[in-house]
Amino acid sequence: MDKGTFDFSSFIAERVPPATAATTTGWDPRGRPKYDFGTGFPDPDSFPAEGLHEALGQALKERGREMVLYPDPKGFLEFREFIVDKLHRERGIVVEPDQVLVTGGSGVALAIFTQLLSNPGDTLITEEFTYPGTLSVMRNLKANIVGVSTDEEGMRPDVLDETIRNLKSKGIHPKFVYTIPSFQNPTGTDMSVQRRHDILTVAQNHGVPIFEDDAYEDLRFEGDRTPSIHSYDDTKMTLYCGTFSKIIAPGMRIAYLVVPPELISQTNFLNWGRPTSHFAALATYYYLRDHMDEHVAEVNDILLAKRDTMIGALGEFMDPKVVYNRPSGGMYLWAQLPEGISVASVAGKARERGVAYLPGPNFSPTGEGENYLRLCFGYADHEGIRDGIALLSQIFTEEGLLA
Ligand SMILES: Cc1ncc(COP(=O)(O)O)c(C=O)c1O
Repeated sequence: MDKGTFDFSSFIAERVPPATAATTTGWDPRGRPKYDFGTGFPDPDSFPAEGLHEALGQALKERGREMVLYPDPKGFLEFREFIVDKLHRERGIVVEPDQVLVTGGSGVALAIFTQLLSNPGDTLITEEFTYPGTLSVMRNLKANIVGVSTDEEGMRPDVLDETIRNLKSKGIHPKFVYTIPSFQNPTGTDMSVQRRHDILTVAQNHGVPIFEDDAYEDLRFEGDRTPSIHSYDDTKMTLYCGTFSKIIAPGMRIAYLVVPPELISQTNFLNWGRPTSHFAALATYYYLRDHMDEHVAEVNDILLAKRDTMIGALGEFMDPKVVYNRPSGGMYLWAQLPEGISVASVAGKARERGVAYLPGPNFSPTGEGENYLRLCFGYADHEGIRDGIALLSQIFTEEGLLA
């Protein structure tokens, strides 16, 4: 036998897609552009380093001996009780701590529920543009993904109804509807109370569960909170996830999944081997227990000011043919160039010149949306936002996208 480099190609499992070129997007500091509007990073100055340091110190003093034990894979009880209380007070959700699973980020929660409910080839429904992490999870599990069009209030219930009817007429029963009702990523749309009811009613009428990803409701910097879809669901067909990535930081890797009682055991089974770090969970719990409301208020003040800076910069520097939303929360602007212009085709060049954004096709199950881009206003500082938007406008003109 030839003892050259071992060839794994015939060993790779069928569901794993072929290797693609490694990308430095987002996480390699060497590849990070000067003006990063691409990835959904929060404001670095809002990271509560001192508060977390203090919280962790106290947690270790009081509970350090627990670190030698394998932690409860669901997350420790007091933390799950804290999450239950938060969900009740802020989202109208009434659940027991056993229905909560603390996960290593929403990605794990998304993977668990997709694994739980779908076989390869099953059809899953999302908004027509949605969070790329969810698309990756669904694609990895070989799902057939169908996008439903949106308006300024998010997913359209009439189109959802029609989509499910069409699928059913072909003998296809979709496994679930994935939606981001508050400050949808990437479009920034925010469902009214009525819209939440309407989406739930359509799903209930067709017997298709909902997965509600509530990553951005905490970042509502204007207006009153809207209850979650889960809180209206008397049939208990809605699964739910939230994250602490946006109000503390993605580096913590702490999120949570909420499931109906009859799914607890199988959810825990699927979480096997990927519990969160007890260290990070303790720090998060001790910190948020004492500081959550004031910290969230501070984060939201920062984001509101940055939204205004980005909108101001777009108004000042960008061709008025570029239109965009004005979200009351979250951290993204969703901008649209005239039909037929491919903003996606210059994303690489813009990045090389120091400005990153995410083009529309990254968010589309079918790779559409060439003339759209998402701009995150969370990470760059005010000066960076202004300079970066000015440079982006210059690049669009020089690349012939705009006059
Ligand atoms: C809709 C949505 N869900 C989940 C996440 C990721 O959250 P986490 O950091 O907890 O994995 C994001 C991040 O951008 C998101 O936009």
